[in-house]
Amino acid sequence: SQIKEVEFVKSSGRAKDCPRDDRPEFAILGRSNVGKSSLINVLARKKEVALTSKKPGKTQLINHFLVNKSWYLVDLPGYGFAKAPDSARMDWSSFTKGYFLNRETLVAVLLLIDASVPPQKIDLDCANWLGRNNIPMTLVFTKCDKMKGGKRTRPDENIKNFQELMRQNYREHPAWIMTSSVTGLGRDELLLHMSQLRNY
Ligand code: GTP
Ligand code: MG
Repeated sequence: SQIKEVEFVKSSGRAKDCPRDDRPEFAILGRSNVGKSSLINVLARKKEVALTSKKPGKTQLINHFLVNKSWYLVDLPGYGFAKAPDSARMDWSSFTKGYFLNRETLVAVLLLIDASVPPQKIDLDCANWLGRNNIPMTLVFTKCDKMKGGKRTRPDENIKNFQELMRQNYREHPAWIMTSSVTGLGRDELLLHMSQLRNY
């Protein structure tokens, strides 16, 4: 399940411009600034495969990265970043929705959740939208290295609370993994998980 090579293939502004072949792919989704691009770099073990930024809204297009010439990782624009007053609403551009609903080669969505903050409604809304549309997902908790307020247990608490809220809607809780782009926590577990899903 190791990564030997990651190549950037293309950025697409519309779902129908995405690469057309039958390689399996995993989409990386989550709020702006949750660490989607950083996760791709950690998986690739390269700093600048996917561009990251402290400012939210860095990734604006659907970006395809080809791994080991055999499967894709897809970096998507984050949601929840809008200056409008109702920015708490999940406000996806139609092209992102179009991507999810029409991408036949999509194996699963890696839904990234920031473990350094309490559960956010927008993330639960997103999980519920994916669930309603029968799109398989894995919850990837990011920033597990962060210990806000000096309390070591904080990410654990946030994750536990998020899962409790998920259980109210799901009989079967989705697979989940704890990660950190700073320490590399969860990297190998996530790679193994994706290789198992690909061989299904
Ligand atoms: P958009 O493209 O704007 O949607 O953001 P993104 O989800 O791609 O986030 P990105 O990877 O650009 O990271 C946003 C910020 O969070 C950067 O300053 C990263 O250094 C930081 N960050 C990402 N992952 C981690 C992590 O695991 N731990 C810590 N402490 N910081 C992280
Ligand atoms: Mg990004």
